[in-house]
Amino acid sequence: MASALKQIDDELKKRSPDWENLIQPNVLILQERSPFLLKWFPKGSGPEAGAKTYALPAIWQKGDDFAKHGRTMMAEAVKLSQVAAKKDNGELKAQVIALGKSCKACHEDYRSPDYEKDAEQ
Ligand code: HEC
Repeated sequence: MASALKQIDDELKKRSPDWENLIQPNVLILQERSPFLLKWFPKGSGPEAGAKTYALPAIWQKGDDFAKHGRTMMAEAVKLSQVAAKKDNGELKAQVIALGKSCKACHEDYRSPDYEKDAEQ
């Protein structure tokens, strides 16, 4: 999903973005996958499962708030596809930012900051 978001962003920077082959397929990826995210964190799949994970225990302690973040992202992804249908460069750019913010909002509270640290190495 991060890669889809980046590809749309990169494409929008070009003088004549390829809506058919690059923007629309990535918009579809984001819209289709976002509803699954809340199913990726079943109870018991946190650090206690012994897997390497950046998922913080708060996911299961504050499940309602976590789900709210997931639903906000879904709504932003649906909006992304609506805006993309208009093929308006500026409007889509703004919606890419709005969707990106909904990702970040959840990561800030529910993904360990070690993720950034490890990613740099
Ligand atoms: C409801 C909360 C939530 C939302 C919304 C969310 N994420 Fe995440 N994301 C997480 C959590 C929690 C992890 C850490 C998972 C782990 O380490 O097991 C994560 C991990 C990731 C990772 C790292 C995956 C890996 O292989 O380590 C990427 C990339 C990512 N998210 C991208 C996104 C993008 C792009 C969006 C928005 C389109 C998004 N996320 C929205 C909670 C969320």
